[in-house]
Amino acid sequence: MRDTLVIEGGHPLFGQVTISGAKNAGLVLMAASIMADGETILDNVPRIRDVEVMIRILNDIGVKTDWNEDGSLSICPPPGGVKNQTSYELAKLLRASNLFLGAMLGRQGEAIISMPGGCDIGTRPMDLHIKGLQALGADLELEHGYIYAKVIKSNAARIYLDFPSVGATENIMMMAAKTPGQSIIENAAKEPEIVDLANFLNFMGAKVRGAGTDIIRIEGVNELKPGRYAIIPDRIEAGTYMIAAAISKGEVLVQNIIPNHLHPIVAKLQEAGAAVHETDQGIVVKAGDKILPVDVKTLPYPGFPTDMQSQMMALLSLAEGSSMIVENVFENRFQIVDELKRMGARIKVEGHTSVIEGVESLYGARVKATDLRAGAALILGGLVAQGETVIENAGYIFRGYENIREKLTALGARLK
Ligand code: UD1
Repeated sequence: MRDTLVIEGGHPLFGQVTISGAKNAGLVLMAASIMADGETILDNVPRIRDVEVMIRILNDIGVKTDWNEDGSLSICPPPGGVKNQTSYELAKLLRASNLFLGAMLGRQGEAIISMPGGCDIGTRPMDLHIKGLQALGADLELEHGYIYAKVIKSNAARIYLDFPSVGATENIMMMAAKTPGQSIIENAAKEPEIVDLANFLNFMGAKVRGAGTDIIRIEGVNELKPGRYAIIPDRIEAGTYMIAAAISKGEVLVQNIIPNHLHPIVAKLQEAGAAVHETDQGIVVKAGDKILPVDVKTLPYPGFPTDMQSQMMALLSLAEGSSMIVENVFENRFQIVDELKRMGARIKVEGHTSVIEGVESLYGARVKATDLRAGAALILGGLVAQGETVIENAGYIFRGYENIREKLTALGARLK
């Protein structure tokens, strides 16, 4: 994560930007691809660091991968099944490595998964994943940092999630897709990436119904078949560029998006005084004369996404008045606060709540990205700060934003 990004502030963004495929859909679909024998081709997979790590994990378990000339990614698992263990060295780099648990159990009934790493934004336990997979008949034990999982007697089950965890819903969906009988996930996550996984599994021959609502029904099938599938656009990347337009006093057309996925973000941007309207080509965001203070609560979809919380905080740092952000999904997501304060922001934190007292301007400083979305928020601050902002640990940002330097430069930002 040692890369450094330098931004010269004060250049409004104008023009258009094309959004890449969704990181979180790409990662889970890459894991799910091992469930079918033969070549799966995924379109729109973003060329970002998390995807590169996922590819290394796939290669390490015996899966052949190739970036094709047209930008698609080919994934060919070996016919007899994959090596059923992920390595600590790779798994520690990426939270989404845990998704091989459900995929391997569904594919071949056995998995040894190194406890995953990823952005340090909270404790990120696995209890809901484990509870769900056990209900489907897997025996799971946690030893020496690995989850040892084996299907003893697979049986369909009704699983209630205490919290609509994205990863737990995905792991359970993948295993249940191959578990005989009808399984039901109650209080399931409803994120668009869950719907994309359901569509992909169904495309491979699974029978998943209800994804996008809080009850998902999965009828197990014997076999999944490979094919070619295009993943959805990245709503968080889109939201980040929308805020970039609003904070920099510019006007940007954000292309290749699914407008429905962006409603929670659009609503808050409008409240904050930006003009947002849909066109045939995408969503246009034009900065308002001033930034108005708003209150935000992060919640599971369709609530305001936790992955947009830091970027929103950067915007509200410059509002005319005080705003409040309540973080309800991850407990450790206010690390951005100290970094924004280095740039002149006035923010107080009490537990899960932060109060942002808007200031007239931010100024350039040396700051550090503490996670992927905090890094994005520092870029947003840097776009309008007086002088130069130096972002250390910028590698975090490249984990999730494809060609971010090129895309921002094309819109008029000055960075290196
Ligand atoms: C996914 C996304 C991440 C996003 C998050 C919430 C991927 C690769 N990552 O992460 O970008 O920020 O959803 O939208 O898709 N929890 C438990 N027990 C569990 C699992 C989760 O208590 O077994 C808790 C977590 O600590 C957290 C909350 O549930 O407080 C949400 O986590 P979850 O939805 O599982 O997030 P991820 O799937 O890790």
